[in-house]
Amino acid sequence: MKPHRKIKSFVCRNSRMTVAQRDAFKRLAAEFVMPAERFLREVASSDINKNIQLSCQHAFSWHPVTFKKDSGCHLSQKALGWHDNSFCILEIGFGNGKSLLTSAKENPEKNFIGIETHQPGVASVLMGIEKHQIKNIKIFYADAVDVLQKNIPDHSFNVIQIFFPDPWPKRRHNKRRLIQPEFVHLLTQKLKQDGVLHLATDWEDYAMHMMTVLSNNESLINQAGKNQFAERSLQRPIVTKFEQRGLRAGRKIWELQFALSFTKLSGEKY
Ligand SMILES: C[S@@+](CC[C@H](N)C(=O)[O-])C[C@H]1O[C@@H](n2cnc3c(N)ncnc32)[C@H](O)[C@@H]1O
Repeated sequence: MKPHRKIKSFVCRNSRMTVAQRDAFKRLAAEFVMPAERFLREVASSDINKNIQLSCQHAFSWHPVTFKKDSGCHLSQKALGWHDNSFCILEIGFGNGKSLLTSAKENPEKNFIGIETHQPGVASVLMGIEKHQIKNIKIFYADAVDVLQKNIPDHSFNVIQIFFPDPWPKRRHNKRRLIQPEFVHLLTQKLKQDGVLHLATDWEDYAMHMMTVLSNNESLINQAGKNQFAERSLQRPIVTKFEQRGLRAGRKIWELQFALSFTKLSGEKY
């Protein structure tokens, strides 16, 4: 696989946070937001972001994670105080985090890592973590491409979920879509031996593109059968904000579940 071309799949919006979100960030980032140093340096222009950067450096100072100056922390479940071999789910681009929070609440025995570039979304999850006393979520406020390349060891996750990634519908923007062969190759490296890649979108042409990219990846097998989309999965516990938007606009939901090809296909869902 050729070297990874950097996908710029998101826009760093100058989004306002509510007072409650800013407060949650200041108080909780140190405990729940993992240090992904480069991104924080890049976005650390506002006061609130400087605070976050300090919080995350603080987090690093007490988190027993291996940290190399240029490459950020190297995450392991053990380093987070979790059992190293626990079932671990990664959600990329969790938006307002409602699906992530619901899954974590419903599955306290599993661990969840979320990656999101949208600051108010991260803050909302921090508020949810506090409100429901959730112990099994850690967040990266960062670009997933960077985090996967620099912070996450191979074979870390049982499941990687990407629900309703930005569709970039204009043809000239299609190259900004997250689901590309190089990125999917990176994702497969981060899956454990029995790992599953779980995607959903409400954009038909993106769904077809996802099907082509995943089907062409030799490490992956379509759990629904060749070229078949999956049924709505129980692992998507709620209708997300962007799913709702798609449904309201009359679009169909397309779901894909691919497992690493050496996964034993027991017929059970993950
Ligand atoms: C269309 S929204 C979907 C949010 C949520 N999953 C839902 O269904 O409501 C896509 C989200 O992915 C995030 N995102 C896009 N590219 C990303 C990247 N490279 N790393 C992390 N998050 C990213 C965006 O900030 C945005 O919140």
